[in-house]
Amino acid sequence: MVDGPWPDELDLSRPNGARVYDYLLGGAHNFQVDRDHAARLLAANPEQQVGARANRAFLRRVVEWCVERGITQFLDLGSGVPTVGNVHEIAHAHDPSIRVAYVDSDPIAVAHSAQVIAGLDTVTVTRADLTRPDVVLDADGVAGLLDLDRPVALLAIACLHFTGGDAERFMSVFRERLAPGSVLAISHGSDDVEDADHAARMRAVVESFRDTASPVTLRSRAEIRALLGDFTLAGPGIVDITEWPVPGQAPRPAATWAAVAVKG
Ligand SMILES: C[S@@+](CC[C@H](N)C(=O)[O-])C[C@H]1O[C@@H](n2cnc3c(N)ncnc32)[C@H](O)[C@@H]1O
Repeated sequence: MVDGPWPDELDLSRPNGARVYDYLLGGAHNFQVDRDHAARLLAANPEQQVGARANRAFLRRVVEWCVERGITQFLDLGSGVPTVGNVHEIAHAHDPSIRVAYVDSDPIAVAHSAQVIAGLDTVTVTRADLTRPDVVLDADGVAGLLDLDRPVALLAIACLHFTGGDAERFMSVFRERLAPGSVLAISHGSDDVEDADHAARMRAVVESFRDTASPVTLRSRAEIRALLGDFTLAGPGIVDITEWPVPGQAPRPAATWAAVAVKG
């Protein structure tokens, strides 16, 4: 399902965040321009590959946490190119009736997701811009699958740092339209970390993405907290993704904050 209008062509002249991330995770849905960028990225921050894997591990833990608290509907924003441990696979291992709506703006992510979910009537993928919450929530693939009068887990994992400007504005619309009991889970890159060297490496990552199709905006811990609005923080609070929901376990923090909260 596709919400437009969109340019038909793929831009293969510039690296793209979805494909670079796919490459870092060992996937095959990337091009030379993305692999070259990944090499520059790893030169800027050698921790980036470990961070990508830590992010996927966080995604798994947060999906399981949501399933354990009875959530049966997921809206996965910026869902990415499918890889090992996709949201519907994690959720369906517990309950195959759980509904999952994937949303991404990248045509490769959407096309490959459509292949992976073919034949499943509990999973959809929609091509849409997550900065337009009403378009996302009213899209056939979302409104036709999820009941927004019941709790939904809204996942915004490693995607909001690809949105510049006022993320608080569009995230507030998502929050308002979710039912009580809904969960909002975010992971977000930041240079607001204690280790000054790590902060500098994160700023080098931003610099490396500057002229790509996916410029990066780091946000402070307070700015990420603001994206949760008046939802109640869950687990240990805003911690490094490696430490959610069990703090104090991280041998190598990923400079990506985890923020999970529940609508009262
Ligand atoms: C680093 S990947 C994260 C994938 C997955 N959420 C994960 O954590 O493993 C970021 C994804 O966000 C998507 N994205 C970035 N900006 C977006 C936007 N404005 N609307 C929808 N998707 C977006 C990219 O296409 C990419 O697939």
